[in-house]
Amino acid sequence: MKRWLSYVKPYTLYFVLGPLLMIVEVIGEVLMPMYLGQILNEASEGTLNTPRCFMYICLMILTALMMMAGGVGGAYFGTKASVNYAADVRRDVYRKVQKFSFANIDKFSTGSLVTRLTNDVTQIQNFINTLLRMCMRSPGIFIGALIMAIRLRPQLSWIFAISVPVLAVIIGFIIKTAFPRFGIMQEKVDKLNSTVQESVTNVRVVKSFVREDYEIDKFTEANGNLKASGISAMKIIILNGPVMTLFMNITVAAIIWFGAHQVMGITDTMAPGDLSQFITYANQILNSLMMLSMMFMMSSRAIASGRRISEVLDEKVDISDEYASQKDMTVTNGSIEFKDVTFRYYKNSEDSVLEKINLTIPAGKTVGIIGSTGCGKTTLVSLIPRLYDTDEGEVLVDGVNVRDYSLRNLREGVGMVLQKNVLFSGTIEDNLRWGDEDATMKEIIAAADSAQADTFIKNFKDGYQTELEQGGVNVSGGQKQRLCIARALLKKPKILILDDSTSAVDTATEARIREEFRTGLKDSTKIIIAQRIMSVMEADMIVVMNDGQITGVGTHDELMKTNTEYQEIYASQMESKEKEA
Ligand SMILES: Nc1ncnc2c1ncn2[C@@H]1O[C@H](COP(=O)(O)OP(=O)(O)OP(=O)(O)O)[C@@H](O)[C@H]1O
Ligand SMILES: [Mg+2]
Repeated sequence: MKRWLSYVKPYTLYFVLGPLLMIVEVIGEVLMPMYLGQILNEASEGTLNTPRCFMYICLMILTALMMMAGGVGGAYFGTKASVNYAADVRRDVYRKVQKFSFANIDKFSTGSLVTRLTNDVTQIQNFINTLLRMCMRSPGIFIGALIMAIRLRPQLSWIFAISVPVLAVIIGFIIKTAFPRFGIMQEKVDKLNSTVQESVTNVRVVKSFVREDYEIDKFTEANGNLKASGISAMKIIILNGPVMTLFMNITVAAIIWFGAHQVMGITDTMAPGDLSQFITYANQILNSLMMLSMMFMMSSRAIASGRRISEVLDEKVDISDEYASQKDMTVTNGSIEFKDVTFRYYKNSEDSVLEKINLTIPAGKTVGIIGSTGCGKTTLVSLIPRLYDTDEGEVLVDGVNVRDYSLRNLREGVGMVLQKNVLFSGTIEDNLRWGDEDATMKEIIAAADSAQADTFIKNFKDGYQTELEQGGVNVSGGQKQRLCIARALLKKPKILILDDSTSAVDTATEARIREEFRTGLKDSTKIIIAQRIMSVMEADMIVVMNDGQITGVGTHDELMKTNTEYQEIYASQMESKEKEA
């Protein structure tokens, strides 16, 4: 609750003015029936004349104008308050998500984070908007109309003593039934968004596997579930209206029955204008209760959404540099050491993905990592820029535990071309500038040249200003990989990690890229993960991995003599080479 109140603070003025101006409207609403009743009464008594009639009309117009000003002002400030409030909440959720580690993101799923950032925040915004409009209006009208009615006709007011509690019980029942249904509905929105997000971002893969029907079925199911939960929740809301109206009509009928007896002088005496005024108050009282019930209904939805947003805001970011002891330290040499490193993605799982890894990489060396798919190569190198943290043991860069660097300095020093890499919408130049915002055009071209990208970029009609579409879909796989390498090179990192980053590049081009690394990046430590033995053969040091463990370290010649696994990989790749030839 404290959190939600803290967002009110910057907009306190709007939060106060909104409801206050609504009170003006309420006062008008309670006064109006009084004028009308008075006119009717005077007309039936025969005392009404033109000047008096004019006076009442003037009073009514004035009240109406006042009500309008209050209503418009109240709505204006209410909207301003709720929109600003929601924008701030959204900003904080977004910032938090940006701080999330890979593990945090894995936990929530992207689809669910998107729903929380959009739909859930909107639910809260709508609720606050309604709350600000109604929090004074409904109780205000309820109390105001009740006082006026009792003052006007105490003899008839006992009717409220019955109808109000009965109505309150009905409303309570409706809210209690609707509450859990909204929670379920929000979950279904989540599912639907996840489904849509996944299939729309990957629509190309869906099409290439002709899986449209399957995806449509999946969507239809999620959509159907949302519809069903929506109907189940709406049923209650739909029921709410007619039941209330019926109840209100019964109350009015009772008032007319007993009131008419009084007007006719059977049980008492009552002016007809008073009766009409009394009925209007009764309507206002019951209506305001109905509005209150709607507000509670919305609150149940907002609470469900609020919980989901809190989950994100409360999530502990598991990788931070809060306790880093050497925040000013930067990566200067680029030596790396793994000491007894054990890691698992699922912390309660028994099998670890990496098991007691020990490895020393001197600064400036080129290291190849090779091993069967799924053996933990990507996982191993992810620990260097702290995309994940070790469970046991430590990773040292320049002799310092990676946890002791500030995340910024560590990641500035480590350039990593991810296996699953993406480019963003924008020009090629914009994308390359991710590596270094202040790079000159000359530096950009040099980096692209080293990555063997300059030639094909220049062949594009717009060159470096070519617009890339979201995810970089309008360049080929090999071109995309080279752009990603150029982007990393521009960082001039002390440690450069290429995770299977040349798999889509032809061997001749790949050889040229390797040559560039050798001459242009002499001082940087280069770690190259590859499937092709050709890609790592010339490295100073080759690491062979199998099932989360290192089974051999050495040069190509050494491994060819000592490591059976390496020999097997070599043999199988050369065999297929010969077959091709
Ligand atoms: N984000 C993740 N969450 C849970 N498990 C994961 C995750 N990423 C990888 N794994 C698992 O960890 C193991 C090692 O995966 P890793 O990506 O390190 O393999 P790899 O050697 O890079 O394989 P490849 O050559 O196919 O890229 C695999 O069994 C994989 O299923
Ligand atoms: Mg991998």
